[in-house]
Amino acid sequence: MHIAVLAGDGIGQEIMVECLRVLEALSLPDLKLEHADVGGVAYHKHGHPLPPETLALVHSADAVLFGAVGDPACDNLDRHLRPEQAVLGLRKEMHTFANLRPAKAFAGLEGLSALKPEVAGAIDLLILRELTGDIYFGDKGRRTTDAGLREGYDIMSYDENEISRIAHVAFKSAQGRRKKLCSVDKANVLQTSVLWREVVNEVAADYPDVELSHMYVDNASMQLVRNPGQFDVMLTGNIFGDILSDQASMCVGSIGLLASASLGEGTKGLYEPIHGSAPDIAGQGIANPSAMILSAAMMLRHSFGMEAEALRIETAVAEVLQAGVLGHDLGGKASTTEIGDAVVARLSAS
Ligand code: NAD
Ligand code: IPM
Ligand code: MN
Repeated sequence: MHIAVLAGDGIGQEIMVECLRVLEALSLPDLKLEHADVGGVAYHKHGHPLPPETLALVHSADAVLFGAVGDPACDNLDRHLRPEQAVLGLRKEMHTFANLRPAKAFAGLEGLSALKPEVAGAIDLLILRELTGDIYFGDKGRRTTDAGLREGYDIMSYDENEISRIAHVAFKSAQGRRKKLCSVDKANVLQTSVLWREVVNEVAADYPDVELSHMYVDNASMQLVRNPGQFDVMLTGNIFGDILSDQASMCVGSIGLLASASLGEGTKGLYEPIHGSAPDIAGQGIANPSAMILSAAMMLRHSFGMEAEALRIETAVAEVLQAGVLGHDLGGKASTTEIGDAVVARLSAS
């Protein structure tokens, strides 16, 4: 279990410390953790957000644990040098086209959701976000026209292979859950979405046991707040899934709770919380490490087939929340370290 540990910027460093303490508390015999710089930290030290030595480590490792990137001091750099390019570059390099972002209500936390408790309590969904295509990776440009008008553009594009491979993952995920798949698009306006819907419908023929529906993204955003319990698997393109998953996190209670796994064809994956480097609270020791810790659980499950260990971590985090050990994001006073302490203590007791 050779893990590349890329903590990154801001709270990425703080939550990674707790995540590694939790992993170490499991006493896994073959765990080998190797650290490398990524994001703004890497830019300041090596002149690039994703330096060659970091990429080399990623390629030699069995899985990657990723904190977060983003540094206000880098906001005006050329796009290719921005910290965010590191995470995009890693996803592309690792061919991790499938991003699993589960959102599930935690027992005892319903009252802390932005939704009514009875609505929040029913949340048990998986946002399956396509991760290596869409407007993120299409042609980009900024230019001045002859008329002197400044203009920017980002091309949204998908080809049928990109859509069908993520659709297969979505149907298979649904088969392992409640067998309901809602594909989210904007087929009333976007050509990419017309193709998306067409291909998803074709792939559906291989999965007659899965109930497929289609929903426009604006409606999906509303339905996620009105009645999130209606969703099992939500299949989205890259940008829609980015936005809907932040929204889903507040339906559960906090963005500090949602983990993610980014997978390709093999077992090597990239595991990271859905949130960013949170510069507004970085360095204060108050970030919620739960999303990072739960990402490590996803790593054990998806890259190493260690379902029992993954569940141990997930149960420990859920119990800590239920016991009322809450960070400031959930209206509590527990520090990052105190939350880590509580999870480690639960693990030792289990
Ligand atoms: P963000 O997710 O970093 O923060 C949004 C809000 O949520 C902030 O108020 C923050 O304090 C809070 N928050 C986030 N994580 C939290 C946690 N674990 N515990 C408690 N509160 C938490 O989003 P942003 O402010 O839009 O972006 C900040 C930087 O992070 C930007 O540079 C952005 O590009 C980057 N970013 C990186 C990733 C990534 O590395 N995958 C993801 C999202 C944003
Ligand atoms: C995320 C982030 C990234 C994304 C940014 C930092 C590139 O928002 O992981 O959700 O948009 O994918
Ligand atoms: Mn995001």
